[in-house]
Amino acid sequence: MLKYNPVKGIGALDDTNIQKIINGQQSAKGEFPYYVLLGVGGNAGCGGSLIAPQVVLTAAHCEPATYNLGELVTVGAYDRYSLNNSPAQNAEKIRVSKVREHPQYSDVDYDFALLLLDTPYIMDSEKYLVVNDNAQYPAAGANLDVLGLGVTKVDGNVAQKLRDVAVPAITNAECRKSYGNQVKNNMLCAGFDAGGKDSCQGDSGGPLVQIEGNKHTQVGVVSWGAGCAEANSPGVYARVSSEIEWMKQTICDDWNVEASLCGPSTPTTPPPPVAAPVTAPVTAPVQAPQAAPQSPPTPTPPISNECSAGQSDIKLFFKFDDYPDDISWTVTDAQNVLVAEIDEPGYYDDILLTKVTETITVCNNNCYDVTINDIYGNGLCCEEGNGRYDIRVQGTTIFTGKRFGEQAVERVCLDKNGVFVTSLDNDSEDGDDDDDDEDYDYEYECEDDATFKWVNKKGKTKNCKWFAKKNKCNAKRKHNGKKQRVFNFCPFSCNTC
Ligand code: ARG
Repeated sequence: MLKYNPVKGIGALDDTNIQKIINGQQSAKGEFPYYVLLGVGGNAGCGGSLIAPQVVLTAAHCEPATYNLGELVTVGAYDRYSLNNSPAQNAEKIRVSKVREHPQYSDVDYDFALLLLDTPYIMDSEKYLVVNDNAQYPAAGANLDVLGLGVTKVDGNVAQKLRDVAVPAITNAECRKSYGNQVKNNMLCAGFDAGGKDSCQGDSGGPLVQIEGNKHTQVGVVSWGAGCAEANSPGVYARVSSEIEWMKQTICDDWNVEASLCGPSTPTTPPPPVAAPVTAPVTAPVQAPQAAPQSPPTPTPPISNECSAGQSDIKLFFKFDDYPDDISWTVTDAQNVLVAEIDEPGYYDDILLTKVTETITVCNNNCYDVTINDIYGNGLCCEEGNGRYDIRVQGTTIFTGKRFGEQAVERVCLDKNGVFVTSLDNDSEDGDDDDDDEDYDYEYECEDDATFKWVNKKGKTKNCKWFAKKNKCNAKRKHNGKKQRVFNFCPFSCNTC
């Protein structure tokens, strides 16, 4: 039975209609730098693609005019809950200032929409996205990739990290055997007869691309299908080449923003046979390929690929308290050069966001400071939930912390083999370490009493944060047999440290 199930652009996490990339794989960071999540965190039910520095292409059935206009979208998204894409370019949350849904959109026909972003996102990548303007392309059987943060099985959960799956293009004639004349000429189908691999709910609006080296040519926009990954039920995509003129008119004439699509000479004559006659790169300020660093074996800054003793990963695991958006972190090397960071609020304020693991690739035979900040000053535990961080190297937790106040700094040194050591022979910063320890003691004394609680007449429990917010730090309360002013229990929240 034909089950058409487009998913609207919001409420993704608890919407059972939302389905994601089926039987694909987790993409690599930086592999699809143009991917856009139409929203932030769990509050996003569709994808999109950055086809010009200020323009996102998505599906009209995502109803961006209703859900995304004036709201933030996540450009360069890789992890649903984190902007940090290190070592690739970080994602950015950018506001949508205009939305244009295709004027002929109805049901699943003309399933295109364009978003204009408040500010451009300049991709810093060798990879670039172009929109396909050749109706003869892709050829049947062409190997395409579709990406998204949608569900990985029907009625499953949406993905946290971007996934992609390879599906072959099929002709519209073939596709009509499954769906009849619901398949219009401005649609494009892709999938295996046997099913198994497909896009799914939550992937809508995202790109279907053909990859040739660094050039990714967007041929489709995730639109609809009967179920997901079922036999003889290919995924159906809005065919990008059929609405190039509408895109040009919107982007170049109406919005008048930079896009290579609008370039001075965009020849429409397609080059020979099957090869992709695509427009010039749309988003790509193509970076010169990094010259292979042939640096001498002297200590070099820990930029990836330049580590004389090889690289290892530091894993930074967070179990959040109720306020993930209070948390930020940095990793700096021994010269205090920033290696990776996530700025507050890097994590979205989302009750469904409980755990995240960040992977930071660093050089062996080096020391790094991992700094974790809590802007509210009460760490990850325990007044507002029971969180913690773990720092792991080679699968072993080497540091963990929860009640760290405003900041925790942990020094991670890796020997030549990437094994954790407390210091390296050439690391001469012991004096500093002592100072750090003093800071900790001071902060520790200054912490709120995590057990402090007061139950009001309605039976509601109030904590330090509540007293501080209500300006009631001078009130006297009894706790643990002692009656004293609240600021004595709550010096941190009440700012009396
Ligand atoms: N309409 C879905 C969404 O909103 C996408 C469905 C794609 N289905 C498929 N079988 N490829 O996310």
